[in-house]
Amino acid sequence: EKDKELIRGSWESLGKNKVPHGVVMFSRLFELDPELLTLFHYTTNCGSTQDCLSSPEFLEHVTKVSSVYRTVSHLDDLPSLEDFLLNLGRKHQAVGVNTQSFAEVGESLLYMLQCSLGQAYTAPLRQAWLNLYSIVVAAMSQGWAK
Ligand code: HEM
Repeated sequence: EKDKELIRGSWESLGKNKVPHGVVMFSRLFELDPELLTLFHYTTNCGSTQDCLSSPEFLEHVTKVSSVYRTVSHLDDLPSLEDFLLNLGRKHQAVGVNTQSFAEVGESLLYMLQCSLGQAYTAPLRQAWLNLYSIVVAAMSQGWAK
């Protein structure tokens, strides 16, 4: 319960437009693992990472990611999201993501929160996001097994 309050509060304080935060998160992710950039097949014809990060398709994916987090962070009933996340995991398996990348995705998420929240990024807040993220990863990973 305390976790949910922390997450909702910090989500609100990121502001209405989550896209710039998503771009920070994915820039960090591609720094950690440049190979992941190639999984966005539509980015193969961009000149530089920066070009890719500003392509409409990429920004659309950032919006999709943020909409998943909005749903997850506002929902009290996580079990009902399980099917959705399991399917989402399956789709990412199909595009070539592997489950090891989730650790880097998590690290990038925390990196973004730290950059965006500054002083408000506290140890309990970090833990709350880690807990939420581990639920998302566990559900998405189930999509791999099937
Ligand atoms: C779809 C890649 C992480 C949410 C996709 C697609 C690709 C992709 C290539 C299909 C094209 C598209 O719809 O833009 C990746 C990579 C990731 C990653 C390389 C990092 C390793 C995430 C995360 C979330 C997410 C962390 C949210 C928790 C979605 C959603 C879709 C999608 C909602 C649309 C699925 C649908 O069409 O039903 N992703 N993704 N992705 N991704 Fe990701």
